[in-house]
Amino acid sequence: MNIELFPRMTASHLVKSIDLNHHGTLFAGRMAEWLVEVGFMTARAALGCQPENIVCARLHGMDFRKSVGSGDTLVLEGRVAYVGTSSVTIYVVAGPFGAPSPLSFTDGLVTFVHVVETRAVPHGLVVEMPVEGEARDLWNRVLTERQIQRQAGQ
Ligand SMILES: CC(C)(COP(=O)(O)OP(=O)(O)OC[C@H]1O[C@@H](n2cnc3c(N)ncnc32)[C@H](O)[C@@H]1OP(=O)(O)O)[C@@H](O)C(=O)NCCC(=O)NCCS
Repeated sequence: MNIELFPRMTASHLVKSIDLNHHGTLFAGRMAEWLVEVGFMTARAALGCQPENIVCARLHGMDFRKSVGSGDTLVLEGRVAYVGTSSVTIYVVAGPFGAPSPLSFTDGLVTFVHVVETRAVPHGLVVEMPVEGEARDLWNRVLTERQIQRQAGQ
């Protein structure tokens, strides 16, 4: 399967006072929560499974490049970046509605694992490695991170 064929999931949130940090801008923890939520929905849409068969294993590479203000409408979009044997890694990009380039605000990767009860189980998705463009860049980024993580665990 071509990785570009998986559905992209989006979500919008109004940034309210309850979402703010001590600087009066969007709290990083709230952004992380919203990022994981979109990641989860994107992973579930790709795997086509029940929620109890997906767990979040890793939130990684999350950068905050610009702050988001109170009253902004934050728009997040998730897409499949990498498909392993039992895992799937989702790339999520977020920024205020109407921003020329949401990428310049926040993005990150979230890895989910297909499980039966508490055990990782192959999800059965077979995806061709993308050959070029952003999809290939994301795939390589996740591959590199997996190698680093494996080396760190040795
Ligand atoms: C995720 C979990 C099921 C993995 O179980 P495990 O026995 O370590 O699984 P394995 O080592 O066989 O790895 C299975 C897959 O998960 C991936 N994986 C496991 N831990 C990972 C991590 N921390 N980061 C990224 N990927 C991870 C592996 O790379 C592997 O991917 P692949 O099959 O696509 O190659 C287990 O660690 C777990 O239950 N963690 C807690 C999850 C949780 O509670 N999430 C909510 C957090 S608040």
